[in-house]
Amino acid sequence: MATLVRNTVSLFKQLHDAFPTVFSSAALCTFPTLIAYLFLAYCGNVRESEKPSAIPVPAMESWIPWIGKSVQLMQDPLTFIVESRRKYGPLFEMTTWGSKLIVATDPGMLMSLEHQCKDLNPSTSRVDAFRALTGIHDSERMTEVMSTRIMPVSSKILSPSGTLKSGLMAAFNERLVHNFDVLTADLKANDPKIMRLSDFISYHLFCASTNSLFGPTFPFDSYPHYAIISSSIQILHSPMANWPFVACKARRARQGMIDALIKYTEDWWHNGGQIEGASQLVGQSLIIMKEENLSIEEAAGSLLISLWGALFNVSAMTYWLTAQLLIEEKIYTSLREEAVDKHYMDAPLLESAALETLRTGSVPPPTRSVDADAKIIVDGKHYFFQKGSRIISEILILATGDYYNPDIYADPHFFKLERFFDESLPRPKPFGEGHHFCRGMHLAKLEIKSFISHTLKHFNLKVVGLKELPKLKRAGLIPDVLGSDNITLEISLCD
Ligand code: HEM
Repeated sequence: MATLVRNTVSLFKQLHDAFPTVFSSAALCTFPTLIAYLFLAYCGNVRESEKPSAIPVPAMESWIPWIGKSVQLMQDPLTFIVESRRKYGPLFEMTTWGSKLIVATDPGMLMSLEHQCKDLNPSTSRVDAFRALTGIHDSERMTEVMSTRIMPVSSKILSPSGTLKSGLMAAFNERLVHNFDVLTADLKANDPKIMRLSDFISYHLFCASTNSLFGPTFPFDSYPHYAIISSSIQILHSPMANWPFVACKARRARQGMIDALIKYTEDWWHNGGQIEGASQLVGQSLIIMKEENLSIEEAAGSLLISLWGALFNVSAMTYWLTAQLLIEEKIYTSLREEAVDKHYMDAPLLESAALETLRTGSVPPPTRSVDADAKIIVDGKHYFFQKGSRIISEILILATGDYYNPDIYADPHFFKLERFFDESLPRPKPFGEGHHFCRGMHLAKLEIKSFISHTLKHFNLKVVGLKELPKLKRAGLIPDVLGSDNITLEISLCD
């Protein structure tokens, strides 16, 4: 305070010396102004001394308050982010729908931010995702139980050795083969089937994944609800989701899915015992949820979240790989020859194709919220991150990132089937980085490879009409791979 008074007196002296007449009369007439000045300067000084001496993250200007850059981000996010990076560098800030969003565009950046600052956490975005997917407004408790109690159990079960021992893949394959047998019988009796590629992938992966997690008592006929939810995720995430007459179909589907999961859990929840064929992952999660006094509806919501986490990205990556092989005949033929000869776990071409898919595919960006003002070093510069900002790590959709760097991957924009025969190439990691990297990555890779191998062994797939890779759309920040689908398939039996 003493410094402040000294500074104020000195300021007065300087102003008086510079403008003696004007200042003296003004000062005499405006004693209240002086008090106000002292007060404001004091507040300013306090804030100044608390602020770290760091530069702000470069911010985009926008003429439209609140909406900021939301429209550009929704319309063509890829071009928008790539151009923004060129203009502002690898870290920049923009306003979308009233909140500040910091975009981190280089691999390793999120991990470095997390290591330097303990006040970055994923909870806010996860609470939002829980709300969007389950419709349960008060979802903080569910998120906390998932993060603190269920995540450690999942990490153990989904480790490389855990995944092999868990029986998850056996149950996945069992249902996939069952579905394909049903389709085979149908194709024997009827004409070839015409359908969208995304519907083919999404339905069979849904059945295989739910069987693997929940066992054979899962209500597989809930798929239509899931399909509606996954095509409406953007609107369910938006602030309009709860307005009357908006997203009614999507909200009904969401409730339908929760009801199906309640029905699945009910008997065990009230009477105990065991759910036939349920994975250890689901069994242990349910025990924890009951111990934590979640309601059965919250438990069903949490199961839906787990299913979504396990299925959404696997479907998107499987779609991407299938689209590539349908567009390029050589890839199709080579992978099919290998599939007939070799098991999917011991198929080098398929392994390389899966890695190439993970290099070029797209996933929703990991998001963190900044819980307290922080000073963080990026590329040797100290940046000030304001409390309340959100950070997204956009490393995969960028044609400028490492995954498209021609010095690392030759002809990076081409899908090269045999690229990863070169063992010296860095393996792509679309599974996040830092504290919250994907726990299911080993399972995910096995599921993608198994799906492709079984499909190629059972069926002939042919594109009907337009033979072109889809241009990726986004649902808000989420890459909408399945929603971008423009491939129609004719499915027949192998000769
Ligand atoms: C190709 C498929 C997949 C991709 C690309 C993928 C990607 C990701 C990414 C980027 C994250 C980090 C999110 C963040 O930092 O906020 C993540 C987290 C997670 N993933 Fe995956 N995932 C896939 C499949 C799976 C599967 C099959 C499972 C489980 C069955 C799974 C379980 C998890 C879990 C539990 C987390 C949260 C980890 C934590 O918060 O500590 N994922 N995933």
